[in-house]
Amino acid sequence: MSATEARLPSELFLSEDKKAWFIHDRFGMFIHWGLYSLAARHEWVKSREEIPDAAYQRYFEHFDPDLYDPKAWARMAREAGMKYVVLTAKHHEGFCLWDSKVTDYKVTNTPCGRDLVADYVEACRAEGLKVGFYYSLLDWHHPDFPTDIFHPQRNLPDTASFNAGRDMTRYAAYMREQVTELLSNYGKIDIIWFDFSYPGRDYKGMPGKTRHDWQSAELLQLVRRLQPDIIVNNRLDVLDIADAMPDVTTPEQYTPRQWPMVKGQKATWEVCHTFSGSWGYHRDETTWKSPEQLVQILIDSVAMGGNLLMNVGPTARGTLDQRAVDALAAYGRWMALNARSIYGCTAAEFAAPRDCRLTQNGKRLYLHIVNWPFRHIHFDGMAGRIAYAQFLHDASEVQVLEPRFDPLNHLTAVNVPEGTVTLELPVRRPDVVVPVIELFLK
Ligand code: GLC
Repeated sequence: MSATEARLPSELFLSEDKKAWFIHDRFGMFIHWGLYSLAARHEWVKSREEIPDAAYQRYFEHFDPDLYDPKAWARMAREAGMKYVVLTAKHHEGFCLWDSKVTDYKVTNTPCGRDLVADYVEACRAEGLKVGFYYSLLDWHHPDFPTDIFHPQRNLPDTASFNAGRDMTRYAAYMREQVTELLSNYGKIDIIWFDFSYPGRDYKGMPGKTRHDWQSAELLQLVRRLQPDIIVNNRLDVLDIADAMPDVTTPEQYTPRQWPMVKGQKATWEVCHTFSGSWGYHRDETTWKSPEQLVQILIDSVAMGGNLLMNVGPTARGTLDQRAVDALAAYGRWMALNARSIYGCTAAEFAAPRDCRLTQNGKRLYLHIVNWPFRHIHFDGMAGRIAYAQFLHDASEVQVLEPRFDPLNHLTAVNVPEGTVTLELPVRRPDVVVPVIELFLK
């Protein structure tokens, strides 16, 4: 940070009350869709395979998602229990899904020929979903974007001549024009998801890119002016010059161990995950998560006070393939009966019993049983605090046992430590991927 660099005042960040909807809703859909969907081998294919523009052009020339039906996407998101959606308006490849006036590298110039963002926004609103855009700070197509560690042309024998005349100042202005389009032409937008900064990631003498490259301060001011209530994620590299917490902190593809702390405080946070490791459609990827894992990722997030943004990578025809449809349906089945343990919930004020996760909403506690035990769950410190207990999926009573003595062995059979409550379970797990017990506190 240079000594003269201006700090970003707290007005540029959202107050808690403006984020209340987001924290309440907990669960959103990420959509990664672009030219890489045709390659169908990861959205970083251009970088991974070091593909030059001329070769990558074949995806542009064949982009024709004839089955694109954003109403179906939005309906599937809603049925899965998701409350907001974030679409890659532009990913690192630089291709724009909307009719941007400042580039030719856009959907309206492909065989598709129409603005896909407009239909997406309308479809989300019709299903009652909040609307977000992902916007890549990286751009592997823009003529002013110099090579760096991630750029497809990073290993050219002569990057210096490739980079000659490339001007990040012009590129930063281009980003502001694009963000102005996205945040002016589609009504109220609820989330903007910038991705990403990489200070210190130098490679062969090419520096990583930072807020100075993006002109993050100007970008953020612009966003705030155009959409005062929008949630902006934390990847603009401004944490150390900000006089406030970022609107949302965004761990990626792992489950945090505890509530993420930023500047010594509990952050508003949202983890993003994939169904199968790739964000863009990946035909041959096979590490698809099981329904149990999917549901547990959601529970784990809320149990640590966070949100989950779960990704789908539509195909180049514009459809969700069967694996994605099935994964969404797994969420839908569980959420249809158990959403009460997710919406409006946060980390509980009590420690969870063994093999369980807890969420809480006021005087209701939600005990998620991740590993079904034999007959008893012992909940320390809860004696005298539970008014009633039931399974959430069918509202059947769960009996709360008093301490009992085992005369055969002269042992306290259940409820060993003082103050522990024991919940009596059926021997067989109910047919729910993660059963939930709703505890009404006194
Ligand atoms: C990473 C990747 C990217 C993906 C993003 C989602 O930063 O660069 O492809 O869009 O994660 O968080």
